[in-house]
Amino acid sequence: MHKKKVIVTGVGGQLGWSIQQLSSQYPAFDFLFVDKEEMDLSNPASVAGFIQQNIPDYFIHCAAYTAVDKAETERETALAINATSVAEIARQCALVNAKLVTISTDYVFDGNGTSPYKVDETINPINYYGYTKWLGEKAALENNADTVIIRTSWVYCQHGHNFVKTMLRLMNEREEIKVVDDQVGCPTYAPDLAKAILTILHESEKGNRHTGTYHFSNSGIISWYDFAVAIRDLSGLSCNVLPLPSSAYPTPAKRPAYSVMDTSKIVDDYHVQLTNWKESLQVCLKELASL
Ligand SMILES: NC(=O)c1ccc[n+]([C@@H]2O[C@H](COP(=O)([O-])OP(=O)(O)OC[C@H]3O[C@@H](n4cnc5c(N)ncnc54)[C@H](OP(=O)(O)O)[C@@H]3O)[C@@H](O)[C@H]2O)c1
Repeated sequence: MHKKKVIVTGVGGQLGWSIQQLSSQYPAFDFLFVDKEEMDLSNPASVAGFIQQNIPDYFIHCAAYTAVDKAETERETALAINATSVAEIARQCALVNAKLVTISTDYVFDGNGTSPYKVDETINPINYYGYTKWLGEKAALENNADTVIIRTSWVYCQHGHNFVKTMLRLMNEREEIKVVDDQVGCPTYAPDLAKAILTILHESEKGNRHTGTYHFSNSGIISWYDFAVAIRDLSGLSCNVLPLPSSAYPTPAKRPAYSVMDTSKIVDDYHVQLTNWKESLQVCLKELASL
């Protein structure tokens, strides 16, 4: 059987790593995992050369400039990695007839909503990182018709840097911590998103060729404070967690008050399964405890 070739970027990051962990369960695909050394996103010639040399059937783009606060000042770098390189990837994928799956963010919205954001709702990026990711979305869709964009939010897992690991460290170091309670959204366990992406590839092979923009997160709606309390309780820690207004925790990049996304389209089109945030948090904490 001819195996379909899949390039996955950002293997050192949370999502790329999670796809690598799951990849052995998808023997129909031949995966090629890459990071900066093999393909530097800040260098368009490196992107073009790598894709033309390896000629993938699918390209899963997990790498990005993800330093949200730094992006406010490192604008050129954020733009080059999150927008310019995505245009080049999409162009090169179109040349070799590869389907592109690329990841975007809830920060393309302004966070003033009061009901879950639908995929076609008005874009108004809340910060510069969100703006660069929005330009990346447009560049992908304009340059390769066979593109799936997945916006996600609050990504965490046992690998890499994230809120869950920071909370566990702080809760072990301190008797009391304060966490913002006026920003609500939904966490995304990276292995759940990885599984959704691999489901899309599997469905594509069966002839399900939907394209366009999708939303994916775990299900449920919580604040960062709720998330922290659950991390503490499920880990059996005793740290006192206090609610804090965002106004008392200023950051260089603005954060949305409301960033819940409507995930129904990915379920309808690609039969992706959604897991409740608490269930997935439990899985992650168990994995972390076994390390
Ligand atoms: N994390 C979140 O909460 C969140 C929320 C919404 C959307 N997203 C999106 O979800 C996707 C996956 O995020 P993640 O959490 O897995 O990110 P991550 O853990 O920060 O990993 C990012 C990856 O991109 C790589 N990278 C950065 N600059 C690069 C360059 N110039 N060339 C090649 N590779 C480069 C990094 O490599 P190095 O480590 O070597 O720099 C790293 O492997 C991204 O598109 C992100 O924008 C994330």
